[in-house]
Amino acid sequence: MKRNYFLFVIPFLFVITLFTGCHSKTKIGILMDNTSLERWKKDRELFEKTAKDLKAEAIIKVADSKPDVQLKQAEELINSGVDVLVVIPCDLVKSGEIVKKAHAANIPVISYDRLIKNSNVDYYVSTDNINIGELQADYLSKISPVGNYALITGPTTDNNAFLLHLGWLNVLQPLIDRGDIKVVIDDFTDFWLPDESYQIMKKFLDGGGTVDAILAGNDALATGAIMALKEYNLDGKVLVAGQDADVNAIRNIVAGVQTITIYKPIESLVYATINAAVKIADGKAPSNMNITVFNGKKLVPAILLKSQVVNRQNIKMTVVSEGFITEKELN
Ligand code: GAL
Repeated sequence: MKRNYFLFVIPFLFVITLFTGCHSKTKIGILMDNTSLERWKKDRELFEKTAKDLKAEAIIKVADSKPDVQLKQAEELINSGVDVLVVIPCDLVKSGEIVKKAHAANIPVISYDRLIKNSNVDYYVSTDNINIGELQADYLSKISPVGNYALITGPTTDNNAFLLHLGWLNVLQPLIDRGDIKVVIDDFTDFWLPDESYQIMKKFLDGGGTVDAILAGNDALATGAIMALKEYNLDGKVLVAGQDADVNAIRNIVAGVQTITIYKPIESLVYATINAAVKIADGKAPSNMNITVFNGKKLVPAILLKSQVVNRQNIKMTVVSEGFITEKELN
């Protein structure tokens, strides 16, 4: 009797183990452009943590701003059998190749923060980047509705650089047309780095140019511009807007040399992305997409979250209270 019992139970247990074991962890391949800037370090940590929280595995590769390297890394992840790819593209157009390769292997792709243009990318999770540009320009032009403006946005390989610029002009164009605002610098940079804006501003100031307000695409570019202003004792006298709520930028705001930054809800962006990735891998449609965005080829289902202006008065109410930055970091 005992023997018969084992004959029945052991295969039964084996089948159960086989079935439960089949539901292995969702593997999410994450292709990052670069993690040298503070904000991307945060994204990276959050990708790892959130994937763990949602019982998935994040496999992260960083391309150091090289589109060819990113494509190779994509191939590696595709061959390793990831269920979903999340891409922060090094290049808005070239990354379309990643989508093609992923789709050939039946792997869906989520475009994170930056949109992959002219491709069949499946989903897009970001903030409203035109609105971010508008928030920045609106804030500075309310303080200085007349004057010389410098516009320094990011690289032309990043769709967000164009969206920010569009947002700036949405606000500034009527003032430009009226002759109240003059755009004295209108530059895209190669990367998003401080030295680039430092060189642009230094050249301009060395040439005797005058400026009242600087719209910078991110806090690194704002920091570089402030460095150049400092050499001419103009820091604190010129309005400066950045983006990303980097610790250094918040310190500059406290010190009165940067006017505002924009706080993007990175934790929510990462959560929305990983949550969607897990659903997609389970064969379900992600329920959190709330808009579609045209990428030149298709209307991409997207989530665009809200960003906030951080100024000297609301630092505690925004980035500190949300736990994005600690008070300790500000001292
Ligand atoms: C952009 C992003 C900015 C900034 C920048 C620097 O795509 O919109 O918030 O982080 O990258 O990497």
